[in-house]
Amino acid sequence: MKKVTILGSGNGSNFEAIVKYFSNKNIEFTCVSDKKDSFIHKRAEKQGIKSHYIPFSETYDFLKTKSQDLIVLAGYMRILPTEIIENFEMINIHPSLLPSFKGTKSIERAYNSGVKITGVTVHYVSQEVDSGKIIAQVPVKINHDEKLETLEQKIHEIEHTLYPKVINHLLFNKPLDIDIKVSYN
Ligand code: GRF
Repeated sequence: MKKVTILGSGNGSNFEAIVKYFSNKNIEFTCVSDKKDSFIHKRAEKQGIKSHYIPFSETYDFLKTKSQDLIVLAGYMRILPTEIIENFEMINIHPSLLPSFKGTKSIERAYNSGVKITGVTVHYVSQEVDSGKIIAQVPVKINHDEKLETLEQKIHEIEHTLYPKVINHLLFNKPLDIDIKVSYN
């Protein structure tokens, strides 16, 4: 059985999409959040996944106590220390076409910048924020006749499709099919 730990600080929509995608597979998920009241705990409870509130300072020690095949960051709003990055295989999802629009508010900054294409990136986690080796990217056109909220919805929808596929690829050596069909793209 594969073991996957998902770290998130907030809403947890990617966490839920991942868990649902693998509902028929033999994967043991663990959810970790540095925020006691984050919605990700509620989603975990609903999906029957064990979730833990682990203060950031205790996260490395917690991860060391577990054996896991992959660590997945899903909206984990922390800059991880070297000891964690060097000792675990970890991936992250980011709502832009990296290396553009690293950091926070990436969708809004892309929308306001005038670029015509943004997207979603899944990458390995490295020392520098949002800079690790890219595993997969999906572009999304920006239509400035549409509201920012519409672009945000599109990006999140793609995230929820792309992230599980990448995890499937990494865990089970499945071919990575990123030909994600979205009617609006
Ligand atoms: C996503 O947009 C992800 O790309 C970014 O943080 C957001 C997390 O959303 N890293 P959620 O908590 O999965 O709903």
